[in-house]
Amino acid sequence: MSDASAKPEFTIKPNANPMPEADRLEAFKALGFGTLFSDHMAVMHWNVVKGWHSGEITARGPFAIDPAAAVLHYAQEIFEGMKAYRTPDGRVVLFRPEENARRFNESARRMAMPEIPEEVFMEAIDRLVTIDAKWIPEGEGSLYLRPFMFASEAFLGVRPARDYIFCVIASPVGPYFKGGAKAVKIWVSEHYTRAAPGGTGAAKCGGNYAASLIAQQEAVEHGCDQVAFLDAAEHKWLEELGGMNVFFVMEDGSLVTPPLGGTILPGITRNSLVTLLKDQGITVHERPYSFAEWQADATSGRLKEAFACGTAAVVAGIGEVKFSGGGFTIGNGETGPTTLKIREQLVSIQRGQTNDPHGWVRQIAGI
Ligand code: PLP
Ligand code: COI
Repeated sequence: MSDASAKPEFTIKPNANPMPEADRLEAFKALGFGTLFSDHMAVMHWNVVKGWHSGEITARGPFAIDPAAAVLHYAQEIFEGMKAYRTPDGRVVLFRPEENARRFNESARRMAMPEIPEEVFMEAIDRLVTIDAKWIPEGEGSLYLRPFMFASEAFLGVRPARDYIFCVIASPVGPYFKGGAKAVKIWVSEHYTRAAPGGTGAAKCGGNYAASLIAQQEAVEHGCDQVAFLDAAEHKWLEELGGMNVFFVMEDGSLVTPPLGGTILPGITRNSLVTLLKDQGITVHERPYSFAEWQADATSGRLKEAFACGTAAVVAGIGEVKFSGGGFTIGNGETGPTTLKIREQLVSIQRGQTNDPHGWVRQIAGI
């Protein structure tokens, strides 16, 4: 048995063949989302006897896993998404990383997986960002961090696995949407839903995304960037997008966003925006908003703007909405002023360009 009180550590094994600097800088010239990866990854293993053990920061590379590994059959997998930014004065910062650590463990509990101590999660992030600091792009880019955990036990019976691998990889990214800052088009899926009450909607598990892909494919076939899901019980209420939460800006200056209730992901960006808006005395209604209301409000002009938000997408204006029965435009179809303003406020805090009234930004020491 291992000493349960000892904090599991990461052994540092630098990559002997990192990408040459000239190639990295060339790749930085056209950054999209999630196609380029840094030189290293953090890995740690868990089993019922040893708990968390064998942590490494090592060269990024493939895993050797058994074809019977539980994740390949029953999708016992969770992940997070967060970003490291380079500030104008050269520091490297993370935005509310402890919220990602906390949500990761909430997802782990829902998926009957072992929790990882928050300080071990944070250490994996800090050490990976430190060793791959040159992979953090300057300017508008950032280093997207993808912590994840999966069931690696070779066993075909259906029960929680007894072996897991935790890993963090890093990807220098630019805008999530191909159109950059242009307002996005949304497809409303009236047939497929994402998550039902009692299901896994509030967990960041791979299965939620697998189930969303056919609807996202439908969105793309209709010329849209993202899919919006309605609730599973009545197919009436707006829930969230495939990978983002959603806000509506009303003509009286208030905002509406669907409430957290177990079927949508409790977004850290969503929570931060609600806080920033309320700081400014702006009313935010966290209340159910129906697709019928959305159409009526856009048509009457009561709805001025709508936007999507999330770590990958940041804040993206929604210009057009399509569905099987037609479509409508929001405002003039462009990203509106309230969206642009709140985006700017959030981004300048995330990037350490302004003061940080809520202490959300955490500097990585020693870079
Ligand atoms: N909803 C879904 C389904 C997501 O995948 C994401 C992205 O992580 C979000 C919402 C936004 O969450 P956050 O702001 O924490 O990135
Ligand atoms: C994120 O924003 O971090 C996500 O995981 C969403 C996905 C669309 C990339």
